[in-house]
Amino acid sequence: MKGKGWILVKGWILLVAAVAIAICGAGCEEKAGVGGKAESLETVEGAGSVAELYAVGCADCHGAAGEGNNPKLVPAVAGLPDYYVVGELTKFQGLLRGMEPDAAGGALKMHGIASSMSLDLMQAMGAYLAGMRPVVSELTVAEGADLARGRKLYEAQCAECHGREAEGDPAKLSPPLYVFQDWYLVAQIEKFQADLRQSDPANVASLRMHATALQLAREEDVRDVAGFVVSRLTGQRDAAP
Ligand code: HEC
Ligand code: HEC
Repeated sequence: MKGKGWILVKGWILLVAAVAIAICGAGCEEKAGVGGKAESLETVEGAGSVAELYAVGCADCHGAAGEGNNPKLVPAVAGLPDYYVVGELTKFQGLLRGMEPDAAGGALKMHGIASSMSLDLMQAMGAYLAGMRPVVSELTVAEGADLARGRKLYEAQCAECHGREAEGDPAKLSPPLYVFQDWYLVAQIEKFQADLRQSDPANVASLRMHATALQLAREEDVRDVAGFVVSRLTGQRDAAP
């Protein structure tokens, strides 16, 4: 028990330093120095919870309730299952994700943050995010989406891997999709289409995600599917039976 606690504490120290750099930029690096480390160690021994770690290290971008941040282009993470959180953090760590040329903002910063996390810490964070309730977010790009059409496209091309209600599938290591904002779904589909998001070579389903994204050939295909997916959380129902 003590050993595990210490691993979390060590992860915490590295994480606070990485986040200070990510959030403040070069000008704040000094704050992440020795003084900052001692302070965060005390904090963690007092609280020691992943919730606190999230509040200090992640909430600035991903939101206090994991709801994401639309102006900053940060995805929601509330309700993401642990296998997916660990998988994606590992990809950021190994530079298998977030390498696209326009990833100058948060995506690029995820590398430093993920690199400072041990596997234990990632797993603890995964369990924490999985326990957060998904948050309904305002529509941005899927306004006016044809939900019935979106449902047809979704059932034909996506349900096999992401589940009928977009709930995700641990066996395929695919995430639930209804937890995300509409613009994020569109942005990631476009990244898969443009080969800007690397697959996990060990996961056939992840490799197939690229070919599948290409089947959404028209702009309205992507919009309608995204609209249908977020409607699973809002409870908004389409006209189809
Ligand atoms: C500087 C802002 C920033 C901070 C701080 C930050 N993130 Fe992120 N994170 C992002 C952005 C932006 C993305 C989306 C990257 C992309 O578009 O591929 C992301 C993606 C992720 C993903 C993948 C989500 C998905 O659906 O694939 C996870 C998991 C994640 N972050 C967890 C965390 C955790 C845990 C922390 C705190 C330890 C954290 N992030 C701190 C900006 C941030
Ligand atoms: C063959 C299985 C498969 C099919 C079919 C599939 N997906 Fe995926 N999808 C995955 C996997 C696996 C991932 C996780 C990718 C990774 O490893 O980063 C994923 C990731 C995604 C993401 C990124 C989520 C995030 O957290 O960033 C979106 C968005 C997405 N899929 C949407 C769709 C849509 C829409 C369809 C239908 C048009 C679809 N997928 C069809 C397997 C699939």
